[in-house]
Amino acid sequence: MQLNAPLDMHLHLRDGEMLENIAKCSAETFSGAIIMPNLVPPVSTKEEVLAYKARIMKAIGEETFEPYMTLFFKPSYDKDFLSSVRDEITALKLYPAGITTNSEGGVSGFDVEELRPTLEAMSELNIPLCVHGETNGFVMDREAEFASIYKRLATAFPKLKIIMEHITTKSSVDLLDKFENLYATITIHHLLITLDDVAGGMLKPHLFCKPIAKRPADRDALLKVALSAHPKVMFGSDSAPHPKHAKESCGCAAGVFTAPIALQLLTELFENQNAPIENLQAFVSGNAQKIYGITPPVKTIVLEKRPFHVPSDYNGVVPMYADEKIAYSIKK
Ligand code: NCD
Ligand code: ZN
Repeated sequence: MQLNAPLDMHLHLRDGEMLENIAKCSAETFSGAIIMPNLVPPVSTKEEVLAYKARIMKAIGEETFEPYMTLFFKPSYDKDFLSSVRDEITALKLYPAGITTNSEGGVSGFDVEELRPTLEAMSELNIPLCVHGETNGFVMDREAEFASIYKRLATAFPKLKIIMEHITTKSSVDLLDKFENLYATITIHHLLITLDDVAGGMLKPHLFCKPIAKRPADRDALLKVALSAHPKVMFGSDSAPHPKHAKESCGCAAGVFTAPIALQLLTELFENQNAPIENLQAFVSGNAQKIYGITPPVKTIVLEKRPFHVPSDYNGVVPMYADEKIAYSIKK
């Protein structure tokens, strides 16, 4: 079983020691990834993009891996600024203010007129907009409530590619085909777990993330579009490492760390669900190449049906399924 140029279209690589410790987990198995900008402070100037990319390249060493850089969306960006940074970035990432890790400087209110200059400039420059689509409503309803904002943005900026990041609900899946310019990423954990796995028994901090995993019917809707490789969905792990002490504590940080096991889990899932391997190839690479217009570095990953014992931690970061066995391994 082999995958060509697998892409992770939503990845947190962090910075400093964490970056040094975990970047290789993605660079060893993926051909490239969209790198989220939610550092402290967020990546919001050309200089910061270039410097962060250089730190990533240093951390991945000899691996073949393209970090597709993003900027943290601010309504103050004008067309001159966006033109000057266009060649260094692949997308902008919009966070509602305070909705998730390091998103304090994000957008509040979603007034189309306030956002218009920046979004029109992005549209003209063909820069996609990645969105963390949650309101600050009741936790299980946040994503569904955000649908009205997606509709407003998709209608007001019909040429702007809008990517609904890490969708978790049937309502988001249903939106995909209603607007030509809406796309989505889906994580592996949201294809595998529901809220029951997080909080139905003993509380599982390593499965806690934003958006929170939802109901079985939501997961089924996600599975349907992922397994059939719906052309508007792409794999994005949202692998979001936090130190073990920040997860196993009172006030658990949100984020599931899946980078080192994502491809193995996807392979097992597609096999168990009898989905053709071509669909997995489209979900983890082909669709993203078409949507973003990117050509990732050539890289072939061979997966073997040989149990892999997931380590209990990777340099102090506990992965999903730590200390458990999964069915597939990556051939070195
Ligand atoms: C992410 C993080 O830790 O940066 N956390 C998460 O739960 N997914 C941020 C995000 O993508 O929401
Ligand atoms: Zn994320």
